[in-house]
Amino acid sequence: MNKLDILQQKQDEAILGGGVKRIESQHKKGKLTARERIQLLMDEGTFEEIGMLVAHRCRDFGMENEVYLGDGVVTGYGHINGRLVYVFSQDFTVFGGSLSETHAEKICKIMDLAIQNGAPVIGLNDSGGARIQEGVVSLGGYADIFHRNVKASGVIPQLSAIMGPCAGGAVYSPAITDFISMVENTSYMFVTGPNVVKTVTHENVTSEELGGAHTHASKSGVTHFTSANEVECINHLKQLLSYMPQNCEDDAPIYPYEAGNEIREKLNHIIPEHPNTPYDMKEVIEEVVDTESFLEVHQHYAENIVVGFARIGGRSIGIVANQPASMAGVLDINSSKKAARFVRFCDAFNIPLLVLVDVPGFLPGTDQEWNGIITNGAKLLYALSEATVPKITVITRKAYGGAYDVMNSKHIGADLNYAWPTAEIAVMGAKGAAEIIFKSEIAAAEDHDAKWKEKELEYTDKFANPYGAAARGFIDEVILPNTTRAKLINAFRMLQNKVVLTPKRKHGNIPL
Ligand code: HXC
Repeated sequence: MNKLDILQQKQDEAILGGGVKRIESQHKKGKLTARERIQLLMDEGTFEEIGMLVAHRCRDFGMENEVYLGDGVVTGYGHINGRLVYVFSQDFTVFGGSLSETHAEKICKIMDLAIQNGAPVIGLNDSGGARIQEGVVSLGGYADIFHRNVKASGVIPQLSAIMGPCAGGAVYSPAITDFISMVENTSYMFVTGPNVVKTVTHENVTSEELGGAHTHASKSGVTHFTSANEVECINHLKQLLSYMPQNCEDDAPIYPYEAGNEIREKLNHIIPEHPNTPYDMKEVIEEVVDTESFLEVHQHYAENIVVGFARIGGRSIGIVANQPASMAGVLDINSSKKAARFVRFCDAFNIPLLVLVDVPGFLPGTDQEWNGIITNGAKLLYALSEATVPKITVITRKAYGGAYDVMNSKHIGADLNYAWPTAEIAVMGAKGAAEIIFKSEIAAAEDHDAKWKEKELEYTDKFANPYGAAARGFIDEVILPNTTRAKLINAFRMLQNKVVLTPKRKHGNIPL
């Protein structure tokens, strides 16, 4: 065989991964192969593979007789919508996509290139965890990847798709990356699978219940997104990337936007007459941002706060919004953690923040206190205080107590704070406030309830409006709801060159 044919033969061998039978088995499970996934992800003809002929070095358990070129992961670079992206795609047909020493080296190589060249990394994960035959070198390989995930954090965007069973070490690299997207019914994430769980805790649980897409989207919050199938998942990754810059020194791409009439009449009619009637904050978001540009993150987790990306006037923004339609929009442990992590992503990658406020306060109770609402609520306070990107607040209705401070108040560094005329800005709700400050008057009255009601109304008249805060400059402008989009387009444009110099330090100490 001539030398050129030898190369072709080796390439053909590598492309087959674990062989035709295992590829068929992968397809039967409704899964694509590692290479098919890359083909869908990258712009046609742009993918350049690195390390196609890498082979493992294990010589135990007969492994010397079972060598697959590429060693269970396809790595390289290419373009997504014309932008450079690095990718690794684990090949389940080769030892279940398990991570060997050389498999890890391939991933590390493209991560190093991505960090040095300032472009995102996308990991398509489908792996049974550490290559069991290799022992500690596989564990070392994982740690090498984790270390790079941390070095890359806040430098380049890192996205993870989970497209098969991800067990053991296979879950921790995605966990350090910025966003995780899972495919429903074919992907799982767990540190230990159902069998180990049964042995240790005597719980009977299926893979789906323990670590399926639905579980991690709603119960644990481990995944930010779920998709019905792999094609949807890959298209979703492309969309997600469109809101992000290439790296922390870059700005997100600007999309074409035609200026027109920016008045949105619907906004004048969203707030219900009664202050305790819920409404859907997502309706406000849809009216304010560019048409169909809102991409919700963590849609099914901690639904009392909404976070997500959008565009306004063609530019990327991150949105954090209390959701009165879920638990009255109260702040609790999970919503604080969810929003804090999102804020830190946006700040790391120069994505301005819009905070929409309708919050009755922090959730009271033993469950919250014993599980650390103090530390966890402080995460959101810290994250918003720390963020130096342009930050704008719109108070649509309630802004009570500590939650007023936390939700991007002027005092923690917001650039512009707007309130609608329906805003109520006070230490606490009128009923509770009247009970405390007029306690003796109410007790002395002949008709306690009537007195209480009277005092409640007195408190409402004084504080359930935005004008006290506006008089002090804590609110920059009370605006008509229908002008909100127009105000925001101008304000974000005005803030686009914002620079904040921060004192020298190694890093802050966010209450983790
Ligand atoms: C080597 C593995 C493997 C592994 C699977 N395979 N996992 N080979 N190391 N970790 C191989 C199988 O032998 C099989 O080879 C092929 O991959 C497909 O596996 P199946 O079991 O047939 O597939 P399926 O039924 O779909 O089950 C997939 C699975 C299961 C759920 C992932 O294989 C599994 O439970 N694997 C072990 C998971 C695990 O415990 N990993 C180690 C975690 S410890 P053939 O030749 O038949 O195709 C760890 C520590 C790191 O990761 C800690 C760092 C922080």
